Amino acid sequence: MTRHFLRDDDLSPAEQSAVLDLAARMKADRFAYTPLAGPRSVAVLFDKQSLRTRISFDAGIAELGGHPLVVDTQVTHFGRGETLGDAGRVLSRYVAAIVLRTHGDERIAEVAAGATVPVVNALTDGFHPCQLLADLLTVRERCGGTAGRSLAYVGDAANNMSHSYLLAGATAGMHVRVAGPAGFQPAAEVVARAEKIAAGTGGSVRVLTDPVAAVRDVDVIATDTWTSMGQETDGLDRTTPFLPYQVNKTLLGYAAAEAIVLHCLPAHRGEEITDEVLDGPQSAVFDQAENRLHAQKALLTFLLGEKT
Ligand code: CP
Ligand code: NVA
Repeated sequence: MTRHFLRDDDLSPAEQSAVLDLAARMKADRFAYTPLAGPRSVAVLFDKQSLRTRISFDAGIAELGGHPLVVDTQVTHFGRGETLGDAGRVLSRYVAAIVLRTHGDERIAEVAAGATVPVVNALTDGFHPCQLLADLLTVRERCGGTAGRSLAYVGDAANNMSHSYLLAGATAGMHVRVAGPAGFQPAAEVVARAEKIAAGTGGSVRVLTDPVAAVRDVDVIATDTWTSMGQETDGLDRTTPFLPYQVNKTLLGYAAAEAIVLHCLPAHRGEEITDEVLDGPQSAVFDQAENRLHAQKALLTFLLGEKT
């Protein structure tokens, strides 16, 4: 059966752990794994902008011995002159996997429905599961593991990163708290799913509005932009309600003394996070960005069923 990775909960706890184990091995011996030798091709398609995802998939596929085809969809017929299902069906005749960054989750679901090769979510409006693999790898490195560790995501709790922290954190056995202002809370379906996963992994899930209560004594503080791609003109005030959620030295002071700070980047310095924190000793942000490469190499290898 073709395995897709459209949401964080498409990997079971054991599978997520196996992918992270492989990512750590690939990081330790970066050019030793070439499961895409041939080369086999992977299409990496963008409906939205990207720096990290675009380059880390391009480099990572090449490092696996494969051939990356990185394409901005505006120059294709993608979703314009043909259905997304037909596009997935056609691409499956050429490539070993399809990686897609797009808008609504229904778009990637349509591609996956037509595809006969793995489809990977490189960010949708709803989820950013590749980012979470990198984040969890970083938590493992910095905190010695994920199970039982606590993570607070503060800011726009209705966005893709918030949803992915809930699902992937629960899958990893973490105690996940997300906090955002009223009107910027996670989807009820995602919270319910995360609670169900947490019940089986020993993790837990809490949704709050108070940023101080969220970060108190946690091992990991995470944040993200207050204005995600596509929300620039949604008419909502995306500054004033978020000011109490800024990750600054004061908020960080409520977390555990050794807490680390994550941000998927790009960061809006001085908005959701201060320079002092982003560049400070507790920031793991640039390791986190590097870990996209290793985590995605491991994910592709896993989804393609390659032995390593
Ligand atoms: N974190 C992340 O996905 O960055 P890009 O938007 O630059 O790919
Ligand atoms: N929430 C952000 C993440 C960017 C990597 C966005 O969707 O724009």
